[in-house]
Amino acid sequence: MTALAFPQPGSPLAFGVATASYQVEGAVTADGRGQSIWDTFTARPGTIADGSDGSVACGSYERLEDDLELVAGLGVAFYRFSVAWPRVQPEGSGRVEQRGLDYYDRVVDGLLARGVLPLPTLYHWDLPQPLEDAGGWPVRDTAERFAEYAGIVAGRLGDRVQTWATLNEPWCSAFLGYAAGIHAPGRQEPDGAYAAAHHLLLGHALAAERLRGDASVGIVLNPSPVRAESPDAEAAARAVDAIQNRLWFDALSAGRYPTDLTELAPALTDDRLVRPGDLDRMAGSLDWLGINYYFPIRVAAAEDADETGTRPHAYPGAPAHRFAPRGPLTAIGWEVDAGGLEEVLVRVSHQFAGLPLMVTENGIALDDRDRRDDGNVYDRARMDYLLDHVAATERARAAGVDVRGYVAWTLLDNFEWAEGYRMKFGLVEVEAGSLARRPKASYEWYAQLVHAGGLIP
Ligand code: FCB
Repeated sequence: MTALAFPQPGSPLAFGVATASYQVEGAVTADGRGQSIWDTFTARPGTIADGSDGSVACGSYERLEDDLELVAGLGVAFYRFSVAWPRVQPEGSGRVEQRGLDYYDRVVDGLLARGVLPLPTLYHWDLPQPLEDAGGWPVRDTAERFAEYAGIVAGRLGDRVQTWATLNEPWCSAFLGYAAGIHAPGRQEPDGAYAAAHHLLLGHALAAERLRGDASVGIVLNPSPVRAESPDAEAAARAVDAIQNRLWFDALSAGRYPTDLTELAPALTDDRLVRPGDLDRMAGSLDWLGINYYFPIRVAAAEDADETGTRPHAYPGAPAHRFAPRGPLTAIGWEVDAGGLEEVLVRVSHQFAGLPLMVTENGIALDDRDRRDDGNVYDRARMDYLLDHVAATERARAAGVDVRGYVAWTLLDNFEWAEGYRMKFGLVEVEAGSLARRPKASYEWYAQLVHAGGLIP
């Protein structure tokens, strides 16, 4: 089967849609899948807002053909999905479970048969639990294990997949997982979070070394513009910017950590953690860069170091601050600012000197209360949000930024991590219980936008 290609320079903006394994697949014990940190985290009382977990999710593991039809029905050029490491290596190392790989083989073939480019992400947060038991991302061996796993997946799919994303939003894995503790594995260890960040980047670089040559390799980051609400919040805003943005930018583009960050995080100057050569491997490890964008971060001053808003301790070492998003907010409490996407794209294109970019996620959580006569959700605000962000992407292109694609988050209403099923980002509603798929108005609208080639065809 022929491989479809990553959009070429100068080609029209290409459109896609995304999902992630733990959020949609369910079937957590099928075909020899091992446990992930999200299976164990969700089992801990109080971790998930509605007490739910991903054991059923959208049932996508058993409904592959239905979901591929929904992807194809959008007319998108590519589908961004993630491979669940615990399906491929139930113990996180060594033994390979062929039945897990068989599933992703069917995903890839099913996409190609429908003329859709597969864009797999190798790690969207579902670390095999045995690796967490051995220390998780704060331990260097996890990076080596990730590269081994990446090689195994590429060995099976690499004849048909030429574009890979290694990690999804490593900031979340490191700082929500190991500092704030609001994502799996739920640890609150500031030094551990910095060690995790380093090992995630190292794991990416080691994986890229294995995959490149035959394939184009990217990473998916979630940068945000960081805005100080007042002069006395500027130091905190700089620290937030260092942790959210520059840590990843500087390591991947220049092979260094920002100096102001190493002051906040002495762990990053410890040469038992950051070994000679590590940073050199990260520099230039990218053929393309994925940007997930949802909201800008507004930082206000706070007196009390614990007063850090909705994401406590996610920025360890930063001066006391709180978040002050400006309304109207989305259902999940995020500010809407499409201009922030344009700002981020321009910034990274400078930082990475013209590296091809892709908006790998963008979307909105809504209550989805309005329905049309046919009973389907009428989500006008979702169409508005997507339209404004596609327009921002096109403005960045017009300004010379080499952004090749735009990917809507997400195909299906799904398991939204610590928020459970309450937060709905999908173009398609998934009925509780029956798991029946019901396209929302935004699904039809997005298909039309894709068909038209965007706002500037
Ligand atoms: C991103 C995640 C994605 C989804 C969206 C809403 O941070 O990558 O899985 O949860 O947010």
